[in-house]
Amino acid sequence: MLDRIQLTNFKAFRQAEIPLRPLTLLTGLNSSGKSTVMQSLALIKQSSLAAMLGPGGGLLLNGSLIELGAGRDVLHADWVEDDEIDGEYIRVGVDVDGVPYRWTLAYEATTDKLDMLSADISGAAEHSLLSAQPGGFQYLRADRVSPAAIYERSHEVAIRQGFLGAHGEHTVNYLRHHQDDTDVTEPLQHPAARSATLLSQAEAWLGEISPGVNLEAVGIDGTDHVRLSYGFGGTAGLSSSNRRRPTNVGFGLTYTLPIVVACLSARPGTLLLLENPEAHLHPRGQTQIAFLLARAVAAGAQVIVETHSDHILNGVRLAVKEQTHPISADDVQLHYFRQTQPGGVEILSPVIASDGMLSDWPEGFFDEWDTTLDRLLD
Ligand SMILES: Nc1ncnc2c1ncn2[C@@H]1O[C@H](COP(=O)(O)OP(=O)(O)OP(=O)(O)O)[C@@H](O)[C@H]1O
Ligand SMILES: [Mg+2]
Repeated sequence: MLDRIQLTNFKAFRQAEIPLRPLTLLTGLNSSGKSTVMQSLALIKQSSLAAMLGPGGGLLLNGSLIELGAGRDVLHADWVEDDEIDGEYIRVGVDVDGVPYRWTLAYEATTDKLDMLSADISGAAEHSLLSAQPGGFQYLRADRVSPAAIYERSHEVAIRQGFLGAHGEHTVNYLRHHQDDTDVTEPLQHPAARSATLLSQAEAWLGEISPGVNLEAVGIDGTDHVRLSYGFGGTAGLSSSNRRRPTNVGFGLTYTLPIVVACLSARPGTLLLLENPEAHLHPRGQTQIAFLLARAVAAGAQVIVETHSDHILNGVRLAVKEQTHPISADDVQLHYFRQTQPGGVEILSPVIASDGMLSDWPEGFFDEWDTTLDRLLD
């Protein structure tokens, strides 16, 4: 498991330590550094995929997961010096099962590959984040693909790498290929699903968002594309003329499908980085997504979520309290990011108890309901 992220001179952070648990929620104001934390992990992964993490390697700022620009874009504007390093540098690091891995990069303003000054790596890199092999890793950014008539069909990405795409753009092809697989792990199996297949499980979880929905993911003959369609009414196998294309069923289902499939693919050791899983969902659907996140953790995944949703937070609190979607208070880490002047970020970390209650509610931390109600009732 990743226990901690350490960042120095990286984008929003001069120096930061971010403790992690099996389920970590990154919350806080816009532009406060939440995605920057996700990007630091994506940066490590996209560099490890290119086998660049060893001595003599470097970090690839632009790649298949993220495009951060050049050195001048990622060096923190108010960078901190290091006695042993001459000039500007950037350091990113993670602790994996208590073992620190640190990469110190030379700064160069215009290049998009930062060369390694030193790599402090004390153990064999067994974690999926540090592996040059794909698999066991999903990173779904806030800007996911919109509902579309057709989607990409890349055997290399969706099937060989098992990657849904940073925008979820390979999800439909992944679902098409794996739809009859019955290896969705037990904690993730929805009680109302017709069967244990990935397709049935995805339908059942999406049914929490839009009751009775069913899915069909098929290849389009003679093309490099796949098609997704939806049916409604509670039973699969409706005639094709009754099926609806994604562009005609609203935004929420299609936007959430990658989140659902990513969670259902969770195995022990899987790392899921999910930005704004609540996007385009009605409030009850957001609570259900929180339950799904809890179950992905119960299935052995580590999940890091950026969210603005009260319902995601409260769904996690309910999961801890009621144990119907089992996750323990010790499995949950909450972080609230807020900017300090000038240009700094403060990270506050309320602690969740086994009854779902929080140790404290910093000003601005999901207090808008109370603030608004107070004014309404005044
Ligand atoms: N090189 C840099 N030096 C200093 N600050 C930077 C640098 N690059 C980006 N930033 C700052 O980092 C912040 C971006 O944060 P980030 O993208 O992580 O936001 P976020 O918390 O995910 O926001 P949202 O909730 O809108 O998604 C901005 O405040 C930006 O000014
Ligand atoms: Mg963000």
